[in-house]
Amino acid sequence: MTGKTAAQLQGVDDSFELMGRTPEIVDKFNVAMVELTRLVTPNVLQSYDFSGIRHLMDVGGGSGELLGVIAQQNSKLRGTVFDLPRCAEAAGKHLRQIGVDDRVEFVAGDFFKAVPAIADAIILKSIIHDWDDVRSVAILQNCRKALPDGGKLLLVERLMPERPSMADEDREQALSDLNMLRGPGGLERTERQYRELLDQSGFELVTSYPAGRFNVIEARPA
Ligand SMILES: C[S@@+](CC[C@H](N)C(=O)[O-])C[C@H]1O[C@@H](n2cnc3c(N)ncnc32)[C@H](O)[C@@H]1O
Repeated sequence: MTGKTAAQLQGVDDSFELMGRTPEIVDKFNVAMVELTRLVTPNVLQSYDFSGIRHLMDVGGGSGELLGVIAQQNSKLRGTVFDLPRCAEAAGKHLRQIGVDDRVEFVAGDFFKAVPAIADAIILKSIIHDWDDVRSVAILQNCRKALPDGGKLLLVERLMPERPSMADEDREQALSDLNMLRGPGGLERTERQYRELLDQSGFELVTSYPAGRFNVIEARPA
């Protein structure tokens, strides 16, 4: 009713910053993200061929659940998990445990400030749906600055249908849309909306590969 997120009603603009004030909530959130990501990782690996990528950076990659599995399946791939400093410990431990710490490292930073220019491909899973268009364009423009002209951008997101039906899957997506609005202030987007967002950020959408309930949206620098 106010048009503000739960965090904004408490005087904080960024809900991840608000979450950071309560470490127990950060821990619960990060564990929940690992569980959710684990469900979709096999679909992502089946639907997209990562073998042509030399260095993949997972921006907002949390503790490295997705990138870790991609690295395990692609033995020549190097990787970087980029996220807030509070994810460093869990990511370091996880990457060591699954035996990819010789090729995959964690780098701390803020994707609104800058993204390191070290990879030929960037993947973002469940990141852009957290943010409104202005903030999403800021993140994507930083990814564009970090990528070479021949680089690749991969968004792993669920697509909102142009005309949602009453099917369970569409209802679930509508609930997620409300959850994003209430929490971080984001939204679930249609493929057309992702195409527009990418256009505004210096990218061109190439293809969307269905990956279970998610999609791998591939884009290249325009
Ligand atoms: C919805 S979670 C997605 C995590 C992971 N990609 C996945 O799908 O499991 C959003 C991630 O963005 C990270 N994040 C939030 N704000 C950030 C910022 N300003 N800079 C870098 N990472 C940020 C959070 O720490 C969190 O790991």
